[in-house]
Amino acid sequence: MKNPTIVLLLIICGMLFSSAAAGPTGTWSNTVRRGRKQTTTLHFYVHDVRGGPNATLFAVASAPITANSPTRFGQINVFDDLATAQPDINSPEVARVQGTTTSADLRVRAIAMNVNFFITAGEFNGSAVSVIGRNAVTEDERELSVAGGTKAFRNARGYAITKSYSNDPATNYSVIEYTIYVTTRV
Ligand SMILES: *[C@@H]1O[C@H](CO)[C@@H](O)[C@H](O)[C@H]1NC(C)=O
Ligand SMILES: *[C@@H]1O[C@H](CO)[C@@H](O)[C@H](O)[C@H]1NC(C)=O
Ligand SMILES: *[C@@H]1O[C@H](CO)[C@@H](O)[C@H](O)[C@H]1NC(C)=O
Repeated sequence: MKNPTIVLLLIICGMLFSSAAAGPTGTWSNTVRRGRKQTTTLHFYVHDVRGGPNATLFAVASAPITANSPTRFGQINVFDDLATAQPDINSPEVARVQGTTTSADLRVRAIAMNVNFFITAGEFNGSAVSVIGRNAVTEDERELSVAGGTKAFRNARGYAITKSYSNDPATNYSVIEYTIYVTTRV
């Protein structure tokens, strides 16, 4: 780096970016504006409780082959999962994650997702992001599409990265990490 002005600019940009990352609403949402585009990064942990008294996910339908299918083909679940900023299920709620999953791959475990992330805290309380896509659940990192949004996220585009954070087969409880990049025009 020969030019000291460029070095100084990079340092200032770095300082601006890190102060934006801290954000007024905590670490789970962060908005960066570039020209006429604004990208909000949402990061949270989704609690998939599939059994017990506090279950938030239920099986609603299956196909004649589901029971004998290694990929549970045809299984449809509906859920209203809690999302929190921290992995602990007792940490404050930031969103409800509501929708359906359909086991829709005959060869590997992959689900077709249709999910609304309804934000319930912070500056985006009341806005929603709709996410769809193919989720190959055995892969470490999966990518889904942001299909749109409402209110603060009207006409949104973007993508979501999801990873399994923890899984307890004994209680049928999993924690799933989501990072959603939501781009709107300003
Ligand atoms: C966990 O899920 C399996 C498979 O669906 C079921 O057989 C079992 O009873 C569930 N256990 C609990 C504690 O819900
Ligand atoms: C169910 O939720 C209640 C209220 O939050 C909590 O006290 C209880 O420990 C939960 N039960 C299980 C099995 O997670
Ligand atoms: C979110 O908005 C709803 C509806 O306006 C309100 O009842 C609720 O208190 C708000 N939640 C937070 C955490 O601000």
